[in-house]
Amino acid sequence: MPMACWSCKSPDVPRVIEEQGEDGYFTGKWAKGGPEIVNVLGCSDCHVKGSSKLRMSRPYVERAMNTIDTPFDEASRKDKQSMVCAQCHVEYYFEKTADRKGFVKFPWDMGTTVEQMEVYYDSMEFSDWTHAVSKTPMLKAQHPGYETWKMGTHGQNNVSCVDCHMPKVTNDKGRKYTDHKVGNPLDRFEETCATCHTQSKEFMVKQVEESKHKAADLKARAEAQLVKAHFEAKAAWDAGATEVEMKPILMDIRHSQWRWDYATASHGASTHAPAEVLRILGTAVDKAADARIKLAQLLAVKGVKQPIAYPDTSTKAKAQAALGMDMKKMNAEKAEFKKTLVPQWKEEAKKREATY
Ligand code: HEC
Ligand code: HEC
Ligand code: HEC
Ligand code: HEC
Repeated sequence: MPMACWSCKSPDVPRVIEEQGEDGYFTGKWAKGGPEIVNVLGCSDCHVKGSSKLRMSRPYVERAMNTIDTPFDEASRKDKQSMVCAQCHVEYYFEKTADRKGFVKFPWDMGTTVEQMEVYYDSMEFSDWTHAVSKTPMLKAQHPGYETWKMGTHGQNNVSCVDCHMPKVTNDKGRKYTDHKVGNPLDRFEETCATCHTQSKEFMVKQVEESKHKAADLKARAEAQLVKAHFEAKAAWDAGATEVEMKPILMDIRHSQWRWDYATASHGASTHAPAEVLRILGTAVDKAADARIKLAQLLAVKGVKQPIAYPDTSTKAKAQAALGMDMKKMNAEKAEFKKTLVPQWKEEAKKREATY
């Protein structure tokens, strides 16, 4: 894992960037970051040191905000409340050019919708990985939470992340303050939703649940189509299909899975922007259908008899594996990290004075 993986995990990140510059920070390797970076979310992630003033603590976020014409210093108080969350709850990637290898960048140069980011990634032929079955150059969505929130009713009406996740509350002395325990807004309905809505909690919870179920249903449909497309593409390769024949098909598969991933990797998106999530998943199904029509024609030309052998996708884990998501490997890496490296780093960090 590159250093960039730390970027959303800790307030030590801005400190190390200040000391070593972005060059020094991003060109190191992950394990080098260990002893320097041990604290989870801290005040300096969102605040100017020793002040309640909000700030952007990561230079690449400031640059990204400038690309979409919303410089932080010119933003309204409400906008700033969401922008501090956008430092981490966004889509990002690691640059691959020689001079900026491993740097974090948000793919926002052409805009923040799923289509605009797709065009951006396509325009530089970027891919995160190659699918083992279909050989498709894939994109991996991180968690485009800020981008999807912007598309929803609340984002459009300038209801900030903080309005729901960090509400103003009153202490026993009657003083109002911002509750910093970020959590599920439905757990403290009176201080969140009920400050604007008159409906009952039961009604609103039902709305949220319904949006979730609708998104989960369409997500499963997109997955089923995508798995078949990957395996039909493999059958076409096996039957001697050429790069030229496969290219438009693989692009459809890439776009379909990117949209599926964008809509579902973003935690809370079915609540934040229910209509947008369903729209994106609808286009994912559509793109997979485009791929499968082209594949049916190509397989016929190559004389392959239908149906081809599809994998078992009867469980979530099996479906994820077929889509190329190696959960076992990812979980094993996480466990190894916790077991051996973290305690060692904590020890070294104790010896160093915290400077923030
Ligand atoms: C994830 C971002 C984030 C982190 C981390 C964070 N804050 Fe805040 N803080 C905010 C936001 C957002 C507000 C509200 C700003 C507004 O009202 O416009 C706020 C407001 C405040 C205020 C103003 C008084 C109030 O209650 O509204 C103080 C003081 C404050 N924070 C202190 C801290 C301290 C101390 C820490 C570390 C222990 C911390 N904050 C960590 C985001 C953060
Ligand atoms: C410095 C990076 C960073 C910033 C800034 C940040 N978050 Fe997070 N947030 C994370 C990470 C990382 C997780 C996942 C924690 C985990 O997986 O255990 C997370 C988890 C969450 C969760 C899930 C809650 C939970 O307990 O699992 C919510 C909700 C959330 N963040 C909202 C916000 C809001 C709202 C803001 C802005 C006020 C914000 N975050 C700012 C990094 C950040
Ligand atoms: C209108 C209120 C509202 C706004 C505005 C809002 N959220 Fe949420 N968010 C929710 C609710 C409600 C949930 C929990 C839905 C559920 O029960 O699964 C949630 C869920 C989440 C989660 C997933 C938590 C988990 O455990 O899966 C994250 C992360 C998150 N929100 C971050 C953000 C960020 C970042 C913003 C701003 C860009 C934001 N939210 C704006 C209401 C809101
Ligand atoms: C700061 C004000 C504010 C807060 C807080 C707020 N909302 Fe809203 N909400 C709005 C506005 C404005 C609209 C759009 C106009 C309308 O329909 O009244 C809206 C619309 C909605 C809608 C219908 C549109 C859609 O996105 O499906 C739902 C559902 C909803 N809110 C749920 C919630 C929930 C759940 C919470 C608490 C987690 C919440 N809201 C918190 C202001 C708010």
